[in-house]
Amino acid sequence: MCGITAYVGDGQAYPYLLKGLERLEYRGYDSAGVATVNNGQVQLHKTPGKVEQLKSTVLPGKIGISHTRWATHGPPTKDNAHPHLCQTNSIALVHNGIIENYAQLRGQLQEKGYTFKSDTDTEVLVQLMNYYYGKTYNMEMALRKALHDVVGAYGIVAFHKDDPRLYAARKGSPLVVGIGDNENFVASDPAAFLDSTRRVLYLEDEDIAVVSKNDYEIKSLCVGEEECVHRTEESIDWDLSSVEKNGFEHFMLKEIMEQPESLKHCLAGRIDLTTGGIKVTIDLPEHFVKRLSKISIVACGTSSYAAYVGKYLIEKYSRIPVEVDVASEWRYKNPIVGPEDLVIVISQSGETADTLAALREAKKQGARSLGVINVVGSSMAREVDSGIYIHAGPEIGVASTKAFTGQVVALNFLALRLAEMRKDLRHEEVLLAIQELEKTPELVTSCLKEAPEIKEVASQIKDAKSVFFIGRGVNLATAMEGALKLKEISYIHSEFFPAGEMKHGPIALLEPGFPVVTFVNKNDPMYEKNLSSIQEAKARGAFIIAVADHVDAVLTSNADAILHVPTVPDILQPIINVIPLQLLAYYVALARGCEIDQPRNLAKSVTVE
Ligand code: F6R
Repeated sequence: MCGITAYVGDGQAYPYLLKGLERLEYRGYDSAGVATVNNGQVQLHKTPGKVEQLKSTVLPGKIGISHTRWATHGPPTKDNAHPHLCQTNSIALVHNGIIENYAQLRGQLQEKGYTFKSDTDTEVLVQLMNYYYGKTYNMEMALRKALHDVVGAYGIVAFHKDDPRLYAARKGSPLVVGIGDNENFVASDPAAFLDSTRRVLYLEDEDIAVVSKNDYEIKSLCVGEEECVHRTEESIDWDLSSVEKNGFEHFMLKEIMEQPESLKHCLAGRIDLTTGGIKVTIDLPEHFVKRLSKISIVACGTSSYAAYVGKYLIEKYSRIPVEVDVASEWRYKNPIVGPEDLVIVISQSGETADTLAALREAKKQGARSLGVINVVGSSMAREVDSGIYIHAGPEIGVASTKAFTGQVVALNFLALRLAEMRKDLRHEEVLLAIQELEKTPELVTSCLKEAPEIKEVASQIKDAKSVFFIGRGVNLATAMEGALKLKEISYIHSEFFPAGEMKHGPIALLEPGFPVVTFVNKNDPMYEKNLSSIQEAKARGAFIIAVADHVDAVLTSNADAILHVPTVPDILQPIINVIPLQLLAYYVALARGCEIDQPRNLAKSVTVE
C-alpha cells in the first residue's frame, strides 16, 4: 500500500529519496515524508498530500528514509505522515503494513512514560525500538526485540542518528535491497532505484537487513543474531521506460495502449504451433490433476473478475466444478479444502494481503496451490506450489488494465494445460484454441483504434449518476470489470448485473437516459438472450451502449452507441470486450477532471487487510 525508499551512500540522499517516492507514489499518495541525518541530527520533512510538496525543502545527509502513505490509522495529516521519530529524536522509521496489537503496546509504553504525537501504529514501533535501544545500545537488537513484541504485518526501514546503517525488516509487506557502487538502497519496489542499480535482493518474511553504503547482511528473526542467511542476488531485466509515462498523459492510458505488447510477452515461448503444444509447465503431479474433483479460485478486485473467466474455461474444457471467492471472504469462511483439492490464486502484485493469507490458509489445509501472478519474485510467486507468470511488466496505474487481459490469457493456458493433462480435450481442440489465443495482440490493436469513437461516447455519459453493465456467461466477468473500472476512476456509481437478473429487481432503477452497457458478440452462446435484455432495457428508455462485433437492424434500432470489436470465439471475448470498457472509463474520468492514476481513497497493491 505505502511506498518506502531508503538510501545510504556517498551521495546526498534527498534527491534519490524524492525520485524513488515519485516512482512509488502509485502505492499511496495521501501524505509523504523524508528523514535524513546531518551532523548527528535527524532532519525531518513531512507533508499531507503529494510527494511534489516535499520539493520545496532539501534535507542534507547521506543516509535517509522516505515514505508515501495510504492512511490506515489516523487521517492523512502531517503528524500521521511517516517517517516517525522516537521521543529522543534519535531513531527514524518508515513502515508499510499494520501492527495489530499497537493499542496494547502503546498503553504499555505510555505507562513507561512515552508520549505520542500521532494516531499511527507505526509510532508505537519506533518508540518500542527506542525503549529496547536504551537497554542494548544496539539497533539490530532493538529491532529484533521490538519485532518479537509485535503482532501484524510490516515492511520497515529505520536508522539511528549515530549509526550510518539502514535497518530493514519484512513480514507480509515487500522489501527489496538495491546494491550499487558505494551506495545501497532499500525500497518496497525496485522501480524506486532503477536508475542507480539493477542488482537486487528480495527480502523474505522475517528477514532483517543491515545495509551500509558498501555492504549488507541479511539475517533472520527466526535464527540467532550471529547467523547470516543467504538470499540470492537477482538482476532486474525490465526496462525503466515501463515505469515511466513515455509521453502518455496517464499511466492508465499507457498501460491500456501497451496491451498488444504485454499480451505478446504473455504468449511468448508458450505456444508451439507446429506441434500444437502448449509450452506451459504446471508443476502438479499428473495423478493429482487427473483426480481433481473441485477447484477454488481466490483473488480480489479485478483479479477476482478474471477468476470468473478461469472458472468458465475450466468448467467448459474439463467439467470440473470451480468455485470463485474473494479472498477476504474465503480466508475466514473455514474453507472446505484438503489434499485432494487445487486452490488457484490470481494476483497482479503477488502481495495482496487477503489473497496471500488465503494462499497460506489453503496450504495449511493441505491443498495444492497454483498462482497466476504478474510480479516476479513476489510473496505469492514464491509461496505457490506452481505458477504461471503473466509477464505484463510493471503496472503503475491504480486501475488494473493490462494485468486483467494478461490474467485471462494465462488462464486460457492454464485451462487448456489442465485439460491436456487430464485428456479432456483432443489435440485438435487444443490446437484450435491456441491458434485463436495467438491472435489476441493483433485483435487488441484493432480494438484500440476505436479510441476516438469511444471518447465521443464517454462525453455523452460523463454526467450520468449511475451506469449498469449487464452480461451473461463469460461476459458477466467483463461486465464486472467494466463496472469496477468506471466507478474507481470516474466516481460514477456503476453496477454489474447478470443480464437475466435485471427483471428481478434492478430494472426498477431504469429511467430515460440511464446508461446500460452490454455485449453483442456473434459467437456468444448467450447472444439471443443478450438481445432480449437490451430490448427490455431500451423499452424503459435506457441509453444502450453495446460492445458489438457486428451491426444489424435489431442492434441499430436498440443501441444508442456501439463500441466496435472484432469477432472472436467466446474464450477470447472478455479480452476483446474489456478494451473498449477500459477506454470508456478512462475517457469518462478524463472528461470529469478526475485524478486518473491516483483515484481517491485507493492505492495500488493492498498489503493490509
Ligand atoms: C482494480 C484493481 C484492484 C486489484 C485488487 C487485487 O482496478 O486494481 O481491484 O485488482 O486490489 O490486486 P492484485 O491483483 O494485485 O492482487
